[in-house]
Amino acid sequence: MSQVMERAAVIDTTPDVPLVRVEGVTLQYKTPEHLVTATYRVSFDIHKQDRLVLLGPSGCGKSTLLKAIAGFLHPVEGRITLKDKVIDGPGPDRMMVFQEFDQLLPWKTVAANVAYPMLINGVGRDEAMARARDALAKVNLTKFIDAYPHMLSGGMKQRVAIARAMAMKPDVLLMDEPYAALDALTRRKMQEELLHLWNDVGFTLVFVTHSIEEAVVVGSRVVVLSPHPGQVRAELNCHDLDFTQRDSVEFGRLTARISHMLFDSQTIAH
Ligand SMILES: Nc1ncnc2c1ncn2[C@@H]1O[C@H](COP(=O)(O)OP(=O)(O)OP(=O)(O)O)[C@@H](O)[C@H]1O
Ligand SMILES: [Mg+2]
Repeated sequence: MSQVMERAAVIDTTPDVPLVRVEGVTLQYKTPEHLVTATYRVSFDIHKQDRLVLLGPSGCGKSTLLKAIAGFLHPVEGRITLKDKVIDGPGPDRMMVFQEFDQLLPWKTVAANVAYPMLINGVGRDEAMARARDALAKVNLTKFIDAYPHMLSGGMKQRVAIARAMAMKPDVLLMDEPYAALDALTRRKMQEELLHLWNDVGFTLVFVTHSIEEAVVVGSRVVVLSPHPGQVRAELNCHDLDFTQRDSVEFGRLTARISHMLFDSQTIAH
């Protein structure tokens, strides 16, 4: 049994108190010409140490939901709470990692990039640098702490962004298709690294993807969203899957089931 599966077994026995609750959330954008409904009455819970994946086709509102959890957008209907408090804006308790490789400050070193959010949130310089070094060691970038972003590959830049978010010790780590722009091999390696990091540190993750395989590998739970406007089509438990066994029958069955849900518009939520 993998370490990740052992950890998942522990999660199953923890009390059922959600860390984040998304309750009947409708999210809209107002443009001068249109009112766009991005999600319609979406509900799901996120428990401490969950690896919750939001999976759905392009335009179904995955990034919009993540932005709402981050506090950049407010629901027009329903509510999102963190530790029973309604989320009313961004905060250091929710850190985001984006798809783009250019989310680092190019004029700062890797260590300074990781330390920066801590410094502006009142952490002292010595502690910020110590936490930056520690986070960079966890993503295997100790050798690159004095490098500048332009000296790194895409995968390394994403590791720095993950270290920067982790060093803040957020309640929830939000990742919006962080590996979508990587080549297939690097992407696979990064997925498995993320799971090992989760196994070491035990953080709470909300991860957006439109790759079915990535969803099943990364997620302990997968929320499948319908096409625009996004509604919850199904919520699947992947706790018992071993992420290293991508060729297993169970893995194939689950990805086929999700694929059926996503491509068959007649599928009914259950
Ligand atoms: N700033 C905006 N103004 C107006 N409409 C927007 C804005 N951002 C997103 N939308 C619309 O909201 C809907 C959901 O967009 P969102 O970016 O959340 O989708 P997504 O599931 O993340 O898609 P993708 O997989 O392509 O990233 C889409 O119809 C999109 O056109
Ligand atoms: Mg998106």
